[in-house]
Amino acid sequence: MSPARFPQHVIAKKRDGRALDRGEIADFVRGATDGSWADYQLSAMLMAIFLRGMTAEETAALTDAMMRSGTMADLASVRLPKVDKHSTGGVGDKVSLVLAPLMAACGIAVPMVSGRGLGHTGGTLDKLESIPGFQVNLSLEEYRRQLEGIGLALIGQTEQFVPADRKLYALRDVTATSECQPLICASIMAKKLAEGIDALVLDVKFGAGALLVEKAAARELARAMVAIGRAMNKPTRAVLTAMDQPLGRTVGNGLEVAEAIVCLRGNGPADVMAVTYALGEQMLLLAGVAGTSAESRKQLEANIANGRALDKFRELVAAQKGDPRVVDDPARFLAAARHQVNLVSRSGGIVQAVDAKGVALAALRLGAGRARAEDKIDPAVGVSQLVKIGESVPPNGVLATLHANDDAALPEAKARLETAIVLGVTPAKAGALIGEVIE
Ligand code: URA
Repeated sequence: MSPARFPQHVIAKKRDGRALDRGEIADFVRGATDGSWADYQLSAMLMAIFLRGMTAEETAALTDAMMRSGTMADLASVRLPKVDKHSTGGVGDKVSLVLAPLMAACGIAVPMVSGRGLGHTGGTLDKLESIPGFQVNLSLEEYRRQLEGIGLALIGQTEQFVPADRKLYALRDVTATSECQPLICASIMAKKLAEGIDALVLDVKFGAGALLVEKAAARELARAMVAIGRAMNKPTRAVLTAMDQPLGRTVGNGLEVAEAIVCLRGNGPADVMAVTYALGEQMLLLAGVAGTSAESRKQLEANIANGRALDKFRELVAAQKGDPRVVDDPARFLAAARHQVNLVSRSGGIVQAVDAKGVALAALRLGAGRARAEDKIDPAVGVSQLVKIGESVPPNGVLATLHANDDAALPEAKARLETAIVLGVTPAKAGALIGEVIE
């Protein structure tokens, strides 16, 4: 290695606000992949990128290097159109668990490589692993065969598949570097472009519970990802969606799986279904399976109503070695926490705000997320029965239920949750949930 390429020199260049060249970015990604950069050097670089940003060229080079850090999937043998969806991260966001089987029921193959919890936001892999036995570490061969068989696979990064993101994602989660546009862009697009898709729909979130709070920043991220997708010849669309209050009424891994099953049974909360349908509509249009928005909406609703989406979810769980009895009786087969404690409002009132980040931090305190990279998640804990903005709560009415295993964490989590839910006397309405589509 030439002295100019020591990790500390590359870190210093970014620290001082200068743009990195392709070779330096490739070194950083290689360092994350083969362990030649120590965790503290990778973390320092992540923080330098967080503070100094990246140009469009640097972001594209980072995406490309990460995408090539492992083996790219070849799904030519899967004959159905292959369209995936990815979210930039939210609170209570169980949409992938509903949308992926729904798309498969509509005749699209969904090759989905997901992430774990990141910062205060939840991760699809952690949620799936709350299903007893569920395996997310499929080999690329198993992934391809499963897609050929049932048109659906939800897996995580492996040693083979985008290993650089696996490493950097885990470090970002615990070094306060999650909320960074070029890092989010490269992390998502590297995984998506390596997974063998024909087209991609992105759910780019903005608001208090999103990684990027400002709508303008979310729009900029959406445009950057759509441009990278286009440059790689993968038709990509992004839908901007609000993340001020949590999606649905649950936050926490097993609790969210149970709520996703309710959605697949046709009784899901309106906001989860609205996001599911908005993204599903774009996926069916991109796949050419529907010609108009109205047509795609009809297909989506029909495949929830006729039970095919739920059947696909059961097939997915069985294929990835999970216990399929969870799908028919989640209350019995998902782990339950030892304590279930209601948060009650003595005076009652109208819900003015439910701060998604505050709720997420309460769930994190209970063990639903990680404080350190090596932490184990507790699949049973979190929050359920959350009120929504605009709802009336009677005196002594329930605002939420906390599910806890750790007695010591409960008072702090309860206090955080109490601060997150604001009651008042005036009528209140949440802002528009579904924003513009960026093509
Ligand atoms: N999802 C990802 O895969 N990566 C991010 O950085 C954010 C959300």
